[in-house]
Amino acid sequence: MNVIYDFTGKTVLIIGGTTGIGRATALAFAKAGANLVVAGIGATQGESLVAEVTNSSQAQIEFAEVDVRVEAQVKALVERAVARFGGIDVAFNNAGVPGKTAPIQDLEESDFDYILDINLKGIFFGLKYQVPQMLAQGGGVIVNTASLFGVMGYATTATYCASKWGVIGLTNSVALEVAKSNIRVNAIAPGSTMTPLLSGMFGGEQTARDKVTHLIPMGRIADPKEIAQLVLFLSSDAASYITGQAVVVDGGGFVPGG
Ligand SMILES: NC(=O)c1ccc[n+]([C@@H]2O[C@H](COP(=O)([O-])OP(=O)(O)OC[C@H]3O[C@@H](n4cnc5c(N)ncnc54)[C@H](O)[C@@H]3O)[C@@H](O)[C@H]2O)c1
Repeated sequence: MNVIYDFTGKTVLIIGGTTGIGRATALAFAKAGANLVVAGIGATQGESLVAEVTNSSQAQIEFAEVDVRVEAQVKALVERAVARFGGIDVAFNNAGVPGKTAPIQDLEESDFDYILDINLKGIFFGLKYQVPQMLAQGGGVIVNTASLFGVMGYATTATYCASKWGVIGLTNSVALEVAKSNIRVNAIAPGSTMTPLLSGMFGGEQTARDKVTHLIPMGRIADPKEIAQLVLFLSSDAASYITGQAVVVDGGGFVPGG
């Protein structure tokens, strides 16, 4: 994919950047000249991303193992990015898990708490510490990862859908709070994308393709790079008048009749 954005000298913080969509986005930002602070679970994957970025670009990058459920860790991560690079131009809050899929009566309180804590409260913590930093530095851009399941319901996926609808509510509300402060806040709402999360849900890439492809009007599952391109667009000046939106990127699945 051609590099069409220039983030030279910008600092990008990606939470949930070790694999899948976040990793593809980190690589795209690095190619576009940004410096990176990437967080997530899994030091091995984090260090392999650092090596890949360092070997393939001029970008400076550091990895921090952070659990988004722990407020103090998210606060420290934001402080670390600011200490290293002097500010945060773009924050991509992308950490997420699928959780347990089952009919509502078969879910426990712990299932609900687990998915809401990572997918929704984690983004709340990110916003809580990124916004004051961006207010202090005079601007910035935030992109939060929701899902196609943040704009529709899906049987046996109620807790995941609830978490992702919540992400869009947080996004819209915070966007309004900072709209006059040169800070834009948007969400992305991807459809099925071939990542460890999706293949893990279906027990393998081929099974995921067999089960999902026929539901997608474009007839294929997204490559994580295609989602990354949307994140770069929303983070760039090309999107200077877009805020408070949830942009669906799903090969046509959310089109009525699609
Ligand atoms: N793959 C899809 O089809 C799809 C579709 C719509 C939305 N999404 C969303 O995209 C985002 C990325 O998912 P992906 O498909 O790339 O999956 P993935 O499993 O490859 O990536 C998930 C990322 O989140 C991080 N993470 C998980 N739990 C964490 C925690 N407690 N603290 C910090 N980081 C944590 C992981 O380390 C990893 O970096 C998620 O929010 C997911 O819900 C994915």
